[in-house]
Amino acid sequence: MYQPIDIFDPAIYQGVRRPHLEAEPLPHVCYTSPSFFDAEMETIFLTQWIFCGRGDQIPQAGDYMTATVAGTPLVIVRGKNLEIRCFVNSCRHRGTRLVSGTGNAKRFLCPYHAWSFDLDGHLKKAPGMNQVPGFRLEDYGLKEIRCEGWGGFIWINLDDGAPPLLEYLGNLTSDFASYDFGNMVCTRVKEYDLRCNWKAYVENAMEAYHTPFVHKATLGHQRCTVMDSRGAWCALHEAHAGTEAVLKGNTSPFPPIADLQGPPAKGTIFALIYPGTMFGCTRDCMWWLDSQPIAADRTRVVIGSCFPKSTAARADFDKHVGLYYARWDKSIPEDNWISELQNVGLAPRLRIKGRLGIEEPLVHVFNNWVLDHVLG
Ligand code: FES
Ligand SMILES: [Fe+2]
Repeated sequence: MYQPIDIFDPAIYQGVRRPHLEAEPLPHVCYTSPSFFDAEMETIFLTQWIFCGRGDQIPQAGDYMTATVAGTPLVIVRGKNLEIRCFVNSCRHRGTRLVSGTGNAKRFLCPYHAWSFDLDGHLKKAPGMNQVPGFRLEDYGLKEIRCEGWGGFIWINLDDGAPPLLEYLGNLTSDFASYDFGNMVCTRVKEYDLRCNWKAYVENAMEAYHTPFVHKATLGHQRCTVMDSRGAWCALHEAHAGTEAVLKGNTSPFPPIADLQGPPAKGTIFALIYPGTMFGCTRDCMWWLDSQPIAADRTRVVIGSCFPKSTAARADFDKHVGLYYARWDKSIPEDNWISELQNVGLAPRLRIKGRLGIEEPLVHVFNNWVLDHVLG
């Protein structure tokens, strides 16, 4: 007789907890269950540092971009002093969303009853509220959220008690230092809305097993080894000459990043920064792939492309950058397609068990990282 699966019973994850080559992937239900998704929001997205793009996406005072983390609407804004801060994108009167997308603002004006907030989040005007006994503007500023940066990238954390970002990133900051991300510029951001779970997208990005099949015509087989990592990340290294950011058969028209050291000098690194941000770092550029959970079966994937400022300033940059964009525009839809196909093949009510392959060590690591948080 059919018995519902208790998704919080550690016993159903015994197979996932085994060593990699004896291990099963996460049960199907982890990719479809709204309860498992809610637990991920509470134990992961409300507590960890969450990637939110790059500072050079909002270069001028008043530039802002919006995000949603664990169902919480956020606005990330560059203030008058050029400092980047994050606030809950929610009016302190009755909660209306203040802004959407990206833009530039002198202040945030709520469209409902016209409360207005400056770029530092202070409530400056609240029509008619002076008639309310005891009401003080200074008590109703926007709720500020922790926001820290490294290498020109931005992370936010909804947990006031979390350790600082640099502690979270661990030795990523030293191992990736020679990429000199702070000296890069983001030249393009692209978004896709997918019908799949956010973890499916992460797992796909962190295994090379699929590359000779899903990317047969575009990338071919990427032969990778696992890197040592300390901190909230793990990574694969692919040794090769040239760049990984153009399609098979093309050569790089741009120079390598100056002074790359160690593994970065010897090929490409595919890193996962928990929970859902992948950095593809190759010898002449980097791209990020951010898997943002919307619902158990819906994910927004954001792809950003970054080049050294000196490359982006070349007279021939616009002429040649299309070779790189073509690589992402061809290979990423292949990953999108297979992730959605995986999602429609799940049978969450049955206890069907799979098995991980030899090229999936980081799927195993990631699955266990998720369980460590969700099960506590
Ligand atoms: S909800 Fe914003 S002013 Fe009323
Ligand atoms: Fe892929």
